[in-house]
Amino acid sequence: MPRNLLAALKSTCFVTRASAVLVPALLMSTSMEAQQAGVEPTRASHAMVVTIHHDASDAGVEVLKQGGNAVDAAVAVGFALAVVYPAAGNLGGGGFMLIRDRHGKTHFLDYREKAPAAASRDMYLDEHGNVIPGMSLVGYKASGVPGSVAGLTYAQKHYGKLTLAQDMAPAIRLASEGFVLTAQEARALQSKNLTRFAVSTRIFQRDGNFYQAGETLRQPELAETLKRIAKDPGDFYKGAMAQQIASFEKAGGGLITADDLAKYEVKERKPIRGKYRGYDIVTAPPPSSGGIVLVEILNILSGFDLPKLGADRSASQVHIITEAFRRAYMDRGDYLGDPDFNQLPLKQMANLKYAAAWRSSIEPAKPTPSASLVRPAGFMPPPPQAAPVKESTQTTHFSVVDAEGNAVSSTYTLNGGFGSGVTVEGLGFLMNNEMDDFTSKVGVPNVYGLIQSSANSIAPGKRPLSAMTPTIITTHGHWYRHGKLAYVMGTPGGSTIITTVANDVISAIDNGLNIQQVADAPRFHHQYLPDRLDLEKKFSIPVADQLKTMGYTINRLAVADEKNPGVWGDSELIAVDPKTGELLGGHDSRRDYGKAAGY
Ligand code: DON
Repeated sequence: MPRNLLAALKSTCFVTRASAVLVPALLMSTSMEAQQAGVEPTRASHAMVVTIHHDASDAGVEVLKQGGNAVDAAVAVGFALAVVYPAAGNLGGGGFMLIRDRHGKTHFLDYREKAPAAASRDMYLDEHGNVIPGMSLVGYKASGVPGSVAGLTYAQKHYGKLTLAQDMAPAIRLASEGFVLTAQEARALQSKNLTRFAVSTRIFQRDGNFYQAGETLRQPELAETLKRIAKDPGDFYKGAMAQQIASFEKAGGGLITADDLAKYEVKERKPIRGKYRGYDIVTAPPPSSGGIVLVEILNILSGFDLPKLGADRSASQVHIITEAFRRAYMDRGDYLGDPDFNQLPLKQMANLKYAAAWRSSIEPAKPTPSASLVRPAGFMPPPPQAAPVKESTQTTHFSVVDAEGNAVSSTYTLNGGFGSGVTVEGLGFLMNNEMDDFTSKVGVPNVYGLIQSSANSIAPGKRPLSAMTPTIITTHGHWYRHGKLAYVMGTPGGSTIITTVANDVISAIDNGLNIQQVADAPRFHHQYLPDRLDLEKKFSIPVADQLKTMGYTINRLAVADEKNPGVWGDSELIAVDPKTGELLGGHDSRRDYGKAAGY
């Protein structure tokens, strides 16, 4: 197993590897000005759907035009991505959905996977107590009980306007009629993760006769599965389909039983809320670490005038932002886990006085080494066990705003690219490897070189800690009047998710980049440990050099491997033009098949 984030991204993240030869030349350039000048968002006056796949974006628009609302469109997108983006779109995974209706009311749906009842704290350790490499990542035992079908059908039932059959129609059509692959997509399907398992090899790799660019991928088994779900959504969890999944799992040595499926439930949770420079932030609560860490980062930064320090991605801004990342990630690792299994100090983490204390520990022109970072005293309880958490590598985010102003921000995942690699025989969908988001062993670094806390240890029925950060930002509201919708944001990227969303917020709100420039701006990331500033390949070399001179250990992806495209994440964003109310779509152009689709 690779030992650090960069190695992990290179070796297991389909997005990173697949983009190697195909990222547009402009994005490979080291000149940020080149990317940030003249890049215009997609404009629409009624509604907007932004996803990593053009067919999924079109599916959302199709449903909106039939009279569906943003939730119907999000459900259509969720099911469509399960067909056209099998690396992360899924029926066998889980995620989060944040809904804000046009009146300002918010709902947060937790459809994260759960550990099966037979899971146990030490299930990935050998007889000597050592982590068995790959066991939580590959194969049957890596899967948690999937939540996506429950989450999407719950959203349609409670908050949609159309029928489930209407919302699922585009996905069913895409599965049965097929869709045409781009070179990037065809290359991604050659994943070794799929080659390991016969059903996956048959469906996605034509038994070794790999799909090529321009060919059509049809998935008849998946089409049948989708039709059955459209007819009876309970089938997946309590019906014949649940039995089919359970016996497949049993035959392969997996832990998920019919009883685990029957007990799966979507949870509505209270979103995390924060404020930043006159905006209200609504974002993901635990079991995601994303929202609370985002709010802590922004609270620390609220005391700095960032544009005064320098331009977007200038060394002086990157320094201050990185120091905020470092501090918030220290708390993230030490304290967070499933809220149903832990008492989490969320109020303390969001306390503005605590943020001010952290802020005063930031040196104006040099990094604080993580090893000498001391948490300000008097704010937080003692941590359960010192240690940060870990992530893995494949997820997707989509954003929707409808003509009435309802908004949906959803991130869902199989975790690793193509999840556990296992496709359910006869049903045609891939299972997740979300169990790897748990702590396999306290104190042992994961594939990203991170160490995890006991708050995130495996237990039956527990949800693994996530970093997914679906976020909706409005102008500041009052008790008598809600704010106006301003941004819908989110991205995949494992542990880089939170820093990417934070960077997107800062680029938009502090630095005034348009939403397309925000999606495309070169990314930087720091997660406290390892004490290293990660930079995308397209990050400016002179700025990287300045940061090095300040004392940062820099890891620019291009330096690690010239063949590596050096990108992470996939921001799929919507902004509302405050003057005209027009919707502005920002699609991450690191991939060549996504789309901001509006009308
Ligand atoms: O829930 C999480 O935070 C991870 N399972 C997400 C993994 C991910 O974003 C990988 N994407 N490239």
